[in-house]
Amino acid sequence: MNGGCIVGAGIDLVENARIREMLDKWGTRFRDKVFLPEEQAYCESKACPCDHYAGRFAVKEAVSKAFGTGMGPSIGWLDIEVVRNTVTGAPSVRLSEKGRTMADSMEISEVLVSLSHTRTHTVAHALLVSNGKPCSAERSPP
Ligand SMILES: CC(C)(COP(=O)(O)OP(=O)(O)OC[C@H]1O[C@@H](n2cnc3c(N)ncnc32)[C@H](O)[C@@H]1OP(=O)(O)O)[C@@H](O)C(=O)NCCC(=O)NCCS
Repeated sequence: MNGGCIVGAGIDLVENARIREMLDKWGTRFRDKVFLPEEQAYCESKACPCDHYAGRFAVKEAVSKAFGTGMGPSIGWLDIEVVRNTVTGAPSVRLSEKGRTMADSMEISEVLVSLSHTRTHTVAHALLVSNGKPCSAERSPP
């Protein structure tokens, strides 16, 4: 983090059953609208894919809240990719070019995320780190 300061936070709680319903109802259409190929490949490799889809869904929502925009025209599902460290298993976020442009305009240097599952729910948390303006600077989405 190198002296950066936290300039945004977001959290999201997802019912795993809700994601299961969406997957059952919409299948590939839902998967392709919300999740990038590597995210899908990871989830599908797990015994209970919907729990892991729920995790990625929650991270995306949490990141959009941290940006202060929510999910919408400024940043969408496919602009936020949950990437997994293949050694530790720790999640991180890769932004699309559009997401990166928005982050740059807000002087966000890093997006930190964490997630946790139970059998029924998944929670994710996101923090935005800035190395730009002083910590006291008020920020608003572009
Ligand atoms: C990593 C660990 C804290 C996860 O906690 P848990 O209670 O088992 O499971 P939770 O549901 O709370 O968390 C699971 C999520 O934690 C995240 N996670 C996994 N490993 C992580 C790590 N090293 N650091 C941070 N987050 C991690 C992942 O996002 C995972 O969800 P996903 O598979 O859908 O991406 C726990 O399994 C642990 O300490 N394991 C022992 C160490 C270990 O096995 N390390 C793996 C290889 S070094």
